[in-house]
Amino acid sequence: MKRAEWRSRLGFIAAAVGSAVGLGNIWRFPYIVGEGGGAAFVLVYIMCLFLVGLPVLLSEITIGRKTAKSPEAAFDQLGKWKYLGRMTIFTGLIVASFYSVVSGWTLGYLIQALSGGLTHFTTATQAENHFTHLTSSYTWCVGYHFLFMLLSAGILYTGVQRGIESWNKVLMPMLFLVLLGLVAKGLTMTGATSGLSFLFSPKWSALTPTAIMLALGQAFFALSLGQGTMVTYGSYVSKKENLPSTCLPIATFGLFISLLAGIAIFSIVFSVGLKVDSGPSLMYETLPLVFSKVRGGTLLAVAFFALVFMAAITSQISAMEPMIAYLGDRFKWKRHHAVILTASLAFILGIPCALAFGIWSDFKLFGMNLFDLTSSLAVNILIPIGGLAAVLLVGWRWGAKKAFEHIRLGAEDFTNRYALFMRYLKFSIKFIAPISIIIILLGIFL
Ligand code: ALA
Repeated sequence: MKRAEWRSRLGFIAAAVGSAVGLGNIWRFPYIVGEGGGAAFVLVYIMCLFLVGLPVLLSEITIGRKTAKSPEAAFDQLGKWKYLGRMTIFTGLIVASFYSVVSGWTLGYLIQALSGGLTHFTTATQAENHFTHLTSSYTWCVGYHFLFMLLSAGILYTGVQRGIESWNKVLMPMLFLVLLGLVAKGLTMTGATSGLSFLFSPKWSALTPTAIMLALGQAFFALSLGQGTMVTYGSYVSKKENLPSTCLPIATFGLFISLLAGIAIFSIVFSVGLKVDSGPSLMYETLPLVFSKVRGGTLLAVAFFALVFMAAITSQISAMEPMIAYLGDRFKWKRHHAVILTASLAFILGIPCALAFGIWSDFKLFGMNLFDLTSSLAVNILIPIGGLAAVLLVGWRWGAKKAFEHIRLGAEDFTNRYALFMRYLKFSIKFIAPISIIIILLGIFL
């Protein structure tokens, strides 16, 4: 059976950007920027993105394109590292399991917003109680986790071109338009400037080593590295494609969308004089309170949750695809069966995470509930190890010389014209990226 390939370069970029832009960019990034030093943090984040993120991204896509195989076989072919390749597929599955739980909340909130049920709060406590009430209900949490998984499986079921590529080509421009609408609304609200100054005024003193590590970790998560996604998406790229020049828009769009999301969220939140909080409480408590206070709140709530939902589903399918490709390549499974098994596994693995806010909230390990435990294991440990494996494979095991000969395929003009940039990428893949990732990992363990 012929292996799938992207229909067009634009389709591949849309799919990779869709994978990159997710909950991490929309609700995690703005908050850590505000807390981590504003413009000073943005500067460090851009450095992490281009010094470390981009070389790892190029490495993963190159591994995929060279082998045209899913991660396990790809790592095996280039370096006899099949267990590391398999680990990244497993990481993708874990990400898919907890990601679907929070994304399910987004879907639940979108449906509530559509029925006008998110604009009646008068105090922060009411919005908070509403959120706690919903997330502690296991039927609500597991139900929306199931529905979100079903929708993701539906997209994946129809294949790489008709499913992943086509949906990303529709959802990404829609996401962008909705985001621009929210930015326009935010910027025209009174008090928007205090939101912008929280986000962008440089606070150099906030730029602690922890903030720098956070920036590096965020760059990794935001590019969907270390979870088999980019290797798998790379395996559908034609040998005629210019890889270095496709990696650049993936990294820059992701950054641009994160910044726009920050501008939209903070100008809206600050315009009603509220303070921002991190993660779920920003999205599910503060914002609904804001939507209750402003004119046109229902429309704003629908637009916002639709935006987050679109961002989430395109990332979710990208975390599931490595496993689907693996089952197809390794066991010759039909795509339909592989999708059903992957979605079922991710759904079952996600159930303990969904219950971690309700009936299993008392169950803690290392002081964390099951959701935090699973997401920390993936984000702080497995993802950096997966990214490290990719750069070591490309830079040393397979060898940078051979790898860059492959990267030149389809990119001769580009690599000649930007020889210095290519030299820098090679240097980073060999030295800067692995050393930085080892530092992140040591920081976690020490
Ligand atoms: N890259 C995806 C995100 O940022 C996983 O949410």
